[in-house]
Parts: sequence; C-alpha cells; structure tokens
Amino acid sequence: MTGRHRRPASPAWRAVVVVGCWSAVLVAAPHEPVVGVVHDVALFVHLTSLVVGLGAVLLVDWFGMRWLARRATLSDVLRTAEGAHVPIWAGFTGLLASGLFLGAPAAPKAIAVLVVGLNGIYAGLLLSRLSRCAEPPVGLLVRAALAAAISQGAWWTAVVLGYLNSR
Ligand code: HEM
Repeated sequence: MTGRHRRPASPAWRAVVVVGCWSAVLVAAPHEPVVGVVHDVALFVHLTSLVVGLGAVLLVDWFGMRWLARRATLSDVLRTAEGAHVPIWAGFTGLLASGLFLGAPAAPKAIAVLVVGLNGIYAGLLLSRLSRCAEPPVGLLVRAALAAAISQGAWWTAVVLGYLNSR
C-alpha cells in the first residue's frame, strides 16, 4: 500500500494560524454587551471548552508532577501529553469561537489568550524533541518545565480575568 503521509505544519505556520485566528476574533467580536440566547449558548460553549482545554492541560501537568515525585516515567508524561493534544487544542478553539459571540475581552485577557496559544505551539515543539531523546538533556527538560509554568500562568490569568470581567 502506498500510504501518503501529510507532513505536520511547521511551528512557524502554526503560529501564523494562531495569531491570525486570535486577531480575527478580537476584531470581529462585538464591543458592546451581548445579551439573550446567543450570549447564554456562547457562555455555555465557553465554559465547556474551558473544562476540556484546561482539564487536559492539568492532566499533563499532573503527570509531570508525578514524574518529578518519581511516581511516573518520562514516557508516561510524554504519552499523556501526546494524547492530550487534541482536547487541549479543541478547548482552545472552542474558547476563541465562543468568545467571538460573547464580546471582545480587555487587553490583559486578550494577551493571556495569545500566550496560551503561542506557548502551546512551543510546548508541542519541545514535546516532539523530548520524544526523540532516550536521555533528554537537562536544558530541554528545563525549557519544558518553563513552558508548563508559562502555560499555567497564562491559562489561569485568562480564567481569573474572564471571571472578574463577567462580574
Ligand atoms: C484561554 C482562553 C480563555 C479562557 C481561559 C477564558 C475564560 C473565561 C472565564 C472563566 C469566563 C467567566 C465566565 C463566567 O463567570 O460566567 C469568561 C468570560 C468571558 N470571556 Fe473568556 N476565556 C478565554 C478566551 C476568550 C476569548 C478569546 C474571548 C473573546 C474573543 C473571550 C470573551 C469572554 C467574555 C466576553 C466573557 C464574559 C461573558 C459574560 O459573562 O457575559 N474569552 N472567559
């Protein structure tokens, strides 16, 4: 069988897609309060996407902590991260798509959302490098830990600002 394998998009191309979608959503989202059934459905999708995306990120980081505590192997962490890729990006996409109907967020939250997206691409790059090393160098592990810390910081900044802005 002659299987044709599509080459995965380069990180630079993925970054262009993330920045493009992020900018398009910010420009197109309404700047006045949205009310009624559109708001309610969009908020439901927003919160569901948050559970899916951040839930998957937390699972990967939990395995990372188990690895630090020597209760899991590095390949357990990498396998979890590879499996979590789809729910993380599905959640992020759902947050952007539902945000389009909720309204444009203030600049600090918008920046946190962009950091989530771009850092996610960087984390994916580190993941594929880690998966190729039997004995990953310390520098690569430190960069992966930093990417995980930035990811947590950006996700929780967006959560807290989203929550506060909706009060
Ligand atoms: C990582 C991405 C995001 C996260 C984690 C996030 C998180 C949240 C959270 C926790 C809330 C509070 C919901 C509530 O208290 O009922 C919220 C509300 C909101 N979000 Fe997001 N959000 C994200 C992306 C976006 C984007 C891209 C937009 C717009 C383009 C957006 C627009 C809004 C708006 C307008 C509300 C207020 C909804 C309301 O209560 O009327 N969010 N977000």
